[in-house]
Amino acid sequence: METLNIHGVSGDSRILIGESLANLSAYLPSKPAVIITDATVRKLYGHLFPPLAVIEIGSGEEIKTIDTVCRIYTALMEQGLDRTGFVVGIGGGIVCDIAGFVASTYMRGIDFGFAATTLLAQVDASVGGKNGVNFGGFKNMVGVFNQPRFVICDPHLLSSLPRRELCCGFAEIIKHALISNADMFAFIEHNSGRALALARDVIERLVHESVALKAGIVSRDEKEAGERRKLNFGHTFGHAIEAVSGIPHGEAVSAGMVIAARLSAARGMLPDADLQRICRLLAAMDLPRHVPVTVDALVDALQKDKKRARDRIHVILLDAIGRAVVQTFDMRELVKAVTEVYI
Ligand code: GLY
Repeated sequence: METLNIHGVSGDSRILIGESLANLSAYLPSKPAVIITDATVRKLYGHLFPPLAVIEIGSGEEIKTIDTVCRIYTALMEQGLDRTGFVVGIGGGIVCDIAGFVASTYMRGIDFGFAATTLLAQVDASVGGKNGVNFGGFKNMVGVFNQPRFVICDPHLLSSLPRRELCCGFAEIIKHALISNADMFAFIEHNSGRALALARDVIERLVHESVALKAGIVSRDEKEAGERRKLNFGHTFGHAIEAVSGIPHGEAVSAGMVIAARLSAARGMLPDADLQRICRLLAAMDLPRHVPVTVDALVDALQKDKKRARDRIHVILLDAIGRAVVQTFDMRELVKAVTEVYI
């Protein structure tokens, strides 16, 4: 097992890579605690949970709402959890986002930790301290920055994931390689088959490198004032695609990364050969390079992006595999550029 640390304003977070869910109780403080999970995770892994009260929520992006949060507040009150309490989220990205937000706001905030059960949650969603819910048709519109005390990343849990969900996790891993680690990108190229087969050595290296990269960036720029923006590579376009098509986040990010890479190539920043390598690797990992969303629908969704500061928007581009740059576009300029490269 390896431990990585994030030093956040709200406290430190320990990411435990290779730790087993069965050892969760060793990390719980000696105070009353409640588990938040979903029905699928409970059915598969409930026998490994510590003997605590469990609050079960539904699954799917549609339940990441304030209503779900309110239902959990009520359940926590019924459990008699007070300010000395602790919340553990056991699940994928949606469970972690909601559990972290609930814990950060219940009684003005109580401590929490996660056991991340999907690849996407282990390499991205459970790490970094952003917790929140969707609101008014916008993703993660309401939320907080607050670090979990710990995150358990148990590789054994990944074997029960449907292949489509597994591939979504690889989209975020490839994103991490693209923005900052050309060697990691080459490693995935050479090991794509073994990665998809969940070869233990490959998965542990990829989870470790992803978390190490993210932990470093978050420790330097927790509130996303600069460098952390690079983690949004593929996400500006990905969120728009996700909103229009309803496809899973990782798949939308994959198609979004291709748009960002094409844009980088069209601006003379990224060599065409690198663009081809990116598309080939995404294909090898069963990830979409393009989804049937019209450019008008894409542009419409982009214009609704909440991350716009007035009419300016930060877009992450590449000037090589392994090197991201943040560029600021005004919306008209971005719409024109995207329209030119969109196929
Ligand atoms: N919780 C996900 C992030 O902070 O990026």
